[in-house]
Amino acid sequence: MSATVNVNGRVSGERDAVISIFDHGFLYGEGIYETMRTYHGRFSFLYDRHMRRLRRSAKMIDLALPFTDDQLAAQIRETQEAARLDGEVYIRVLVTRGIGDLTYDLEATPKPSLVIIVKPHIDPLPEAYEHGVRVVIVDVVRNHPGSVNPMIKSNNLMNSALAMQEALRAGAFEGVMRNYRGELTECTTANLFIVKNGVALTPPLEAGLLPGITREFLFDVGKEVGVAVREQVLRDEDLLGADEAFLTSTTREAVPIAEVGDRKIGTGKPGPITWKLLEGFRRAADAS
Ligand SMILES: Cc1ncc(COP(=O)(O)O)c(C=O)c1O
Repeated sequence: MSATVNVNGRVSGERDAVISIFDHGFLYGEGIYETMRTYHGRFSFLYDRHMRRLRRSAKMIDLALPFTDDQLAAQIRETQEAARLDGEVYIRVLVTRGIGDLTYDLEATPKPSLVIIVKPHIDPLPEAYEHGVRVVIVDVVRNHPGSVNPMIKSNNLMNSALAMQEALRAGAFEGVMRNYRGELTECTTANLFIVKNGVALTPPLEAGLLPGITREFLFDVGKEVGVAVREQVLRDEDLLGADEAFLTSTTREAVPIAEVGDRKIGTGKPGPITWKLLEGFRRAADAS
């Protein structure tokens, strides 16, 4: 890995990037983040939506963000320039509660910490798009919205880490998580879609999941390319009986799901609706 890091305005290589162990991001996992990527070297594609989500996450944990969207963009640009990378870059913005004494009292942490990580963006292997991937439905249940709400893009990723580790043990590309009611929610680092009778369906936000920016944008792409995209409560049998399925995220766009456990989805190959949406998404990203 060759990352360039900006810690509270100080830009350095990854080896010299340091943060206090008394930062509540480290001590308690109290913080929020966004993941972005560049197209044609620029991070403008859906930047406004990422900022909206960052502010919503911040509000949900009572964290005041001490910068405007433009000020943050300037800091990201500075970090990206220092990184001197040729290809597309991956950008992770983290804001934590900040440094303070060992207490949950907000009075102890008056100043949030801001960290920006820039490193080369790596696309999934071409095989993932050509043949589709295998996922599994995992036993780890998605956080209850009344606990650490999945709507918060939280630095505390224990729930996702445990679920993904279960998926990796099963040799899968991703793990699909159910909620406490047994409904499907999302993957550990991506949202989930199925296709049934030509319609793309994704679990509703009320199921308890991260409102993915790619997921949200696919509703617009669907209108553009003539594919109906809707929210619907989904269960195991909907996924297993789907015509097509795919997962979405900023760094992977839309990756077809060919198998769930030992069951083929549809023909067991990437389907036409998935392709139509992926191509529409790429056209929009390319034009940004
Ligand atoms: C749990 C979870 N769901 C969904 C996503 C996809 O969100 P986005 O499309 O905004 O990258 C992510 C991305 O990191 C995630 O961690």
